[in-house]
Amino acid sequence: MFPRSTSMIFFACLLMRMDLNSEFSGADHKSFQLDPPPTPLYKYHNRLVPYLARATKLLRISPHSLVIELDALEAIMGRRSIRKYTGEKLPDEDIEVLLRAAMNAPSGHNRQPWHFIVVDDRGILDKIPRYHPYAKMLDKASHGIVVLGDHKVQETDFWIHDCAAAIENILIAAHAKGLGAVWLGVHPSKALIKETKELLGVPDHVTPLGIVSLGVPAEEKAPRDNYNLERVHWNKW
Ligand SMILES: Cc1cc2nc3c(=O)[nH]c(=O)nc-3n(C[C@H](O)[C@H](O)[C@H](O)COP(=O)(O)O)c2cc1C
Repeated sequence: MFPRSTSMIFFACLLMRMDLNSEFSGADHKSFQLDPPPTPLYKYHNRLVPYLARATKLLRISPHSLVIELDALEAIMGRRSIRKYTGEKLPDEDIEVLLRAAMNAPSGHNRQPWHFIVVDDRGILDKIPRYHPYAKMLDKASHGIVVLGDHKVQETDFWIHDCAAAIENILIAAHAKGLGAVWLGVHPSKALIKETKELLGVPDHVTPLGIVSLGVPAEEKAPRDNYNLERVHWNKW
């Protein structure tokens, strides 16, 4: 009735759907785990990225042109804090992608109270580890993105949640693009807030929540599965 090629395409689609469904079948909703994951790519991505970054250096092409981008779930499950970088400069387009991801985060009452100070000045980057005890990796970072909340725009503590969501979006987007990133906490340390504001000339009504250190990764870290059933409560504590 159907041409042979049409039947084969239909049969292949059926098999693909069965494969997708098998992820969920047999697992009741309480014990559902991302195992096996949608695709195993995220497991190998972290291992591949440093080699691909080195290859781009040898070939003298843009640092990320060989990197495979991950889908959202793969990027979330494979993200790790990356604190070693090659020292290469990231292109402006990458920074723009990260800022777009940051500004697409949810925010209380949709106030979007965030500001971002993109620091690529070596002199400024080098000053941060002098007052921040856990920011040494900035000496090889390409950029630091300081994420700040505007109290005139978001008057309640929601600014903290909003800016944290923006930072997490940057980290996931960075990992998806094969970049290395780590969150450096600033708020709630009064000393770190003061030093950061003075260094960057931040006005009184704005507070830095954290800094994202960014670069081309020079270390690989295996993805971790932190899933812990003891932390999951259904309907009541
Ligand atoms: C609020 C917050 C503050 C952090 N501050 C720092 C920091 O100052 N320096 C640093 O190297 N890592 C910092 N981290 C990264 C954590 O150390 C890291 O996320 C944690 O060890 C888990 O490792 P993973 O990100 O590889 O899963 C911070 C993370 C968060 C969420």
